[in-house]
Amino acid sequence: MATGFTFPPFWFLFLFILSCFSSFCLGGDRVTLGEIYKDGDNLTSKGGDFVLGFFSPAGTSKRYLGIWYVDIPVKTYIWVANRNKLVHDKNGTFSIDTIGNLVVKDGNGDLLWSSNVSVQTRNSTACLRDDGNLVILNNDRDAARLNSELWESFSDPTDTYVPGMEVLIERQGEQKVFRSWTNESDPSPGRYSMGVDPRGTPQIIIWDGPNRRWRSGHFDGAEFIGVPDVIRTNFFSGFRILNEGDNKLLLTYSASNTSSFLRFQLTVTGNELQQRWNEDEGEWNTLQSRPVGGCDLYNFCGNFSECNKEVCQCLEGFVPSVQEEWHAGNRTGGCVRKTELECRKNSSVSRNDSSKDDGFSTIRRVKLPDHADVAEISTEECKIKCLNDCSCNGYAHVRGINCMVWRDDLVDIEHFEEGGNTLYVRLHPSDIGKKKKTIIIVVISILAALALVVMVAIWLVCKYRARKRESKRTSEIPKNHLVRSGEFSMEYSGPGDISAEGHQGNGSELAFFSFSMVATATDDFSLANKLGQGGFGPVYKGKLPCGQEVAVKRLSQKSGQGDEEFKNEITLIAKLQHRNLVRLLGCCVEGEEKMLIYEYMPNKSLDTFLFDTARKSLLDWRKRFNIIEGIARGLLYLHRDSRLRIIHRDLKASNILLDEEMTPKISDFGMARIFGGNQNEANTNRVVGTYGYMAPEYAMEGLFSGKSDVYSFGIILLEIICGRRNTSFRTDEHSGIIGYAWEKWDEGRPMDLVDRSIWDGCQHNEALRCIHLALLCVQDLAAHRPNMSSVVLMLETDNVRLPLPRQPTYTSMRRSVDEDIWHGNQDLTSSNNVTVSVLIGR
Ligand SMILES: *[C@@H]1O[C@H](CO)[C@@H](O)[C@H](O)[C@H]1NC(C)=O
Ligand SMILES: *[C@@H]1O[C@H](CO)[C@@H](O)[C@H](O)[C@H]1NC(C)=O
Ligand SMILES: *[C@@H]1O[C@H](CO)[C@@H](O)[C@H](O)[C@H]1NC(C)=O
Ligand SMILES: *[C@@H]1O[C@H](CO)[C@@H](O)[C@H](O)[C@H]1NC(C)=O
Ligand SMILES: *[C@@H]1O[C@H](CO)[C@@H](O)[C@H](O)[C@H]1NC(C)=O
Ligand SMILES: *[C@@H]1O[C@H](CO)[C@@H](O)[C@H](O)[C@H]1NC(C)=O
Ligand SMILES: *[C@@H]1O[C@H](CO)[C@@H](O)[C@H](O)[C@H]1NC(C)=O
Ligand SMILES: *[C@@H]1O[C@H](CO)[C@@H](O)[C@H](O)[C@H]1NC(C)=O
Ligand SMILES: *[C@@H]1O[C@H](CO)[C@@H](O)[C@H](O)[C@H]1NC(C)=O
Ligand SMILES: *[C@@H]1O[C@H](CO)[C@@H](O)[C@H](O)[C@H]1NC(C)=O
Repeated sequence: MATGFTFPPFWFLFLFILSCFSSFCLGGDRVTLGEIYKDGDNLTSKGGDFVLGFFSPAGTSKRYLGIWYVDIPVKTYIWVANRNKLVHDKNGTFSIDTIGNLVVKDGNGDLLWSSNVSVQTRNSTACLRDDGNLVILNNDRDAARLNSELWESFSDPTDTYVPGMEVLIERQGEQKVFRSWTNESDPSPGRYSMGVDPRGTPQIIIWDGPNRRWRSGHFDGAEFIGVPDVIRTNFFSGFRILNEGDNKLLLTYSASNTSSFLRFQLTVTGNELQQRWNEDEGEWNTLQSRPVGGCDLYNFCGNFSECNKEVCQCLEGFVPSVQEEWHAGNRTGGCVRKTELECRKNSSVSRNDSSKDDGFSTIRRVKLPDHADVAEISTEECKIKCLNDCSCNGYAHVRGINCMVWRDDLVDIEHFEEGGNTLYVRLHPSDIGKKKKTIIIVVISILAALALVVMVAIWLVCKYRARKRESKRTSEIPKNHLVRSGEFSMEYSGPGDISAEGHQGNGSELAFFSFSMVATATDDFSLANKLGQGGFGPVYKGKLPCGQEVAVKRLSQKSGQGDEEFKNEITLIAKLQHRNLVRLLGCCVEGEEKMLIYEYMPNKSLDTFLFDTARKSLLDWRKRFNIIEGIARGLLYLHRDSRLRIIHRDLKASNILLDEEMTPKISDFGMARIFGGNQNEANTNRVVGTYGYMAPEYAMEGLFSGKSDVYSFGIILLEIICGRRNTSFRTDEHSGIIGYAWEKWDEGRPMDLVDRSIWDGCQHNEALRCIHLALLCVQDLAAHRPNMSSVVLMLETDNVRLPLPRQPTYTSMRRSVDEDIWHGNQDLTSSNNVTVSVLIGR
């Protein structure tokens, strides 16, 4: 063991006292010339916190010389000497050699490791200090620099930073200081390294081999701006960068609580781990671990894009460089400018002035991009500096750093929920605000609309003639078959008439009610009880004598079936039972009067929430996703699992009812079967549906199939995500929700669609999947759309790779067509959201 402390000469007493305060080596904490430490001999720091000796990492018998905490039972090594050349047995030694180095040798006396002191000396001492620093001190009385430090382990660290360590940073070039272990049982240098890039202002970087894996963001004097959620450092603790002169900087960290052990480690998995020893629990508590998750990984989304909760979006004014790869989740290509900056275009004439037109888009709350250059100028000068430099892609002005400009691609931009900085991205004027573009679009669409109006007018004239011929044929049918709600004369049956059939069975049985019973239940169909006007007639709230609340739909249209047929049909439909379908409890057939009695849904329909500014936030993302799933399951049941294989044909937000728990329930299913015949996939002469929700082939040609419901489902999906009505998108710029959604998708910014009122709790990956799915559902050709079973699968599985949607083109002409059919048909109600039936000739 270390021995032999000789009292220093008198004139050194002062120095000695000073040294005591800087934890000078005393007693058993040092190794001196001539002493040979064997495996098993340990050097313990004076305070008793750290020990230097040979150890074997977990899972191996190989021996390494290292430093670990004395009192921490979980062996934690802060430094390893011979990490490259291990000792195979327990015959290893460490000692001071004749030129002043600390050396590690194996049993044969072969050199495994040397401290390589910069200045050779005849007599030196290695001592383990209280902070875990192993230092070699010059002991040579003849030399001028007695007690000067020849070497220290803190300047040759392995994978761990401990408080007190000063990391020297050159002003030029990357410096990889720490190197991870290969694995838990092998301290040899692994694939990850950690250090500092001083460009601009210093940043801490983790490399994976030669590539950056994570960066802390630039240092603003108090903190690293890319790690905003870490408690801000105060005067006494946290990171500090000291100017050492000679173009050198020192990076240090001081812990806020020095009474417990703290360390930063670069783990074998490439994470920077900040841990504090918890005495009570006997374990390391992790204070932070970087990188966390996808967005924290270096340039996760590729160049010129922004990462927000694992979701990548191109910056405004940029589009994916390779669309297919981008949408398939391969971001390596990143995004590129929509329009190249004027000054970068090849032109024989140099256009100095054009760059003055360039503008900036503002991106708030981000981790600013990598590779910034820094200048000490004001914000306004910073902007001008960027404009005057053709290679400048953006700038930012940050307190503590000043003006930052980026001449390289903008990489590694992460959006933060709070904190972060504002980035100004330089754009070609045409990519800002899109004002000039819209004028052209408006002109083109007006011309297109005019052409369509003419065509539709001609078509309507033909239609009108055809209908005239038809009405001649149908005029033989007695008039009283055409029931209109207003015409109906109330003929009460006597109370004794309350049908004996009216008693309700065990739930799956359909009950038949008498008219008088229903009239009583709805208070004579009073206006106060009217819930709304559905596609097939008004709906009333009613209360059965037993107290059960029901919704009564009074059909105002001729079913085209006899009473018995109608009853049979209703009985069949009532047998359809699913959690996501409204239950049909019974019906009433008396003369011309036909009514359907449903279970009552207190929360009314989806549209009353979704499109109401006050109530839409009640449907947070989780609820909305559940609703989407519910609708999909209900539809799947109708299409595939039910015996009847029903195609709804009039799916829309107002047909989705919500129970107390916001479970969606599809209503009005089977109506098409009652009213429009029961073909399974056919060309029908009667189109039942709602404009805006109707698939092109159905609206135009009367062709319907399960895929037309899928289309309507796609529209509902978009409405749920956007929280806006399809029709509300009919502006100059967009022909409807589909056009808008496609534009955002195409720009690589699909998340712009998501309703801002639910942005906070939004699961971005789910939202993204829903948007993708919706675009698949609204494709022009039915054959391209997925069927409901695929839809359910895609909704509920995270890792299915969805095919790329094709651009919907039908929607671009939709707007004018819709309106003209609308205005041309005087029979139709004027409300936009009411089911219409149009006869289409074949
Ligand atoms: C040195 O440390 C090792 C590992 O903690 C321990 O087993 C050994 O007893 C120590 N030796 C001495 C001399 O303290
Ligand atoms: C190491 O020591 C063991 C016994 O302590 C001995 O048997 C062995 O030969 C030694 N190895 C070397 C390389 O000296
Ligand atoms: C010391 O120098 C030798 C030979 O130049 C080199 O292999 C070794 O890695 C160096 N050791 C340290 C700790 O720098
Ligand atoms: C080295 O220095 C120590 C302490 O000053 C002294 O005790 C020792 O004799 C010196 N050894 C040699 C070989 O000079
Ligand atoms: C650690 O890495 C070494 C090779 O460097 C390998 O032989 C060993 O099996 C690894 N151990 C574990 C636990 O992965
Ligand atoms: C510092 O750490 C010690 C030991 O973990 C604890 O008892 C003490 O309360 C801490 N002090 C502060 C100010 O957090
Ligand atoms: C990712 O996209 C790039 C082009 O942007 C392509 O070169 C590369 O092969 C793609 N990688 C994979 C795994 O598909
Ligand atoms: C721009 O000019 C460079 C060199 O003059 C040439 O290599 C490049 O093909 C040109 N690019 C275009 C788009 O004209
Ligand atoms: C373009 O800029 C250069 C230097 O930036 C200047 O010398 C030249 O006169 C400018 N040309 C025009 C047409 O403004
Ligand atoms: C992304 O930007 C970096 C830094 O500017 C550049 O080195 C790299 O080539 C860019 N990658 C692509 C795919 O353009």
